[in-house]
Amino acid sequence: MGELVELHGVVKKFGRVAALRGVSLCLRRGEVVGLLGPNASGKTTLLKIIMGFIRPDRGEVRVLGRDPYLDPSIRARVGYVPEDVLLYDSLTVREFLYFMGRMRKMDPSTYIDRARLLATLFEIEDKMDCLVGSLSKGDRQKLALISALLHEPDVLILDEPLASLDLVAARVLKEVLREIRSRGGGVIISTHILSLAEAICDRIYLMNEGLIVAEGDLRSIKEVVGADEDLEEVLLKLTKKDEVLEALIRILKEEF
Ligand SMILES: Nc1ncnc2c1ncn2[C@@H]1O[C@H](COP(=O)(O)OP(=O)(O)O)[C@@H](O)[C@H]1O
Ligand SMILES: [Mg+2]
Repeated sequence: MGELVELHGVVKKFGRVAALRGVSLCLRRGEVVGLLGPNASGKTTLLKIIMGFIRPDRGEVRVLGRDPYLDPSIRARVGYVPEDVLLYDSLTVREFLYFMGRMRKMDPSTYIDRARLLATLFEIEDKMDCLVGSLSKGDRQKLALISALLHEPDVLILDEPLASLDLVAARVLKEVLREIRSRGGGVIISTHILSLAEAICDRIYLMNEGLIVAEGDLRSIKEVVGADEDLEEVLLKLTKKDEVLEALIRILKEEF
């Protein structure tokens, strides 16, 4: 079996904006990989390309050995939580989850059990019969996660998933990521929260302006740039836009 996800020389332009300017990366079995970078560095575009929602202008994309744009059937083995979660507000939580289970052609007894288990883990079991449209932002985020995890995907793609998660849910998510890793699946998580990346990622890709500017575990990234600097300094050096990044780093220092 090859890598779970492989990208080679991926280029994507939107009109004159070069969102990705030649990106190569991989996700191996048993890995949690972090995609770190300032706003507009291309993280969301990259994840959408991995999902097969967008076709790159150039380069090669393989997810579980197939081209995700040409072969959307691989989505049955992939879970995705987008940056802007879209849910069906007029369904109840239960209806929504069962609907997702049916869409993925899961066995009813499997999706019913799994929905109950995940709702309990994320502590929204008492909301099963509430309308999705009535949920708080944090609960919507939980529901999006549960929906992405319902079918026990081999590959989980999370785009900035923690913005509105409470501490309990964040801890549950970390456990879920560990579980996926231990059964040989993989996770790609985009975030601008450095402490999160440090806490849960085996490997990190640092992006800036459509390019990967550094790759490795945090320690080796720091070594490349010069030892014993903290990660904020590393980011500054690699992205070389001091004024912009000063502002960014204030956000990055938010505690996870
Ligand atoms: N559908 C689109 N149309 C035009 N420009 C886009 C589109 N999607 C992304 N971009 C541009 O591509 C760049 C990368 O965006 P994005 O991938 O969302 O970055 P990030 O997720 O790191 O913030 C940005 O300059 C953004 O404005
Ligand atoms: Mg984004």
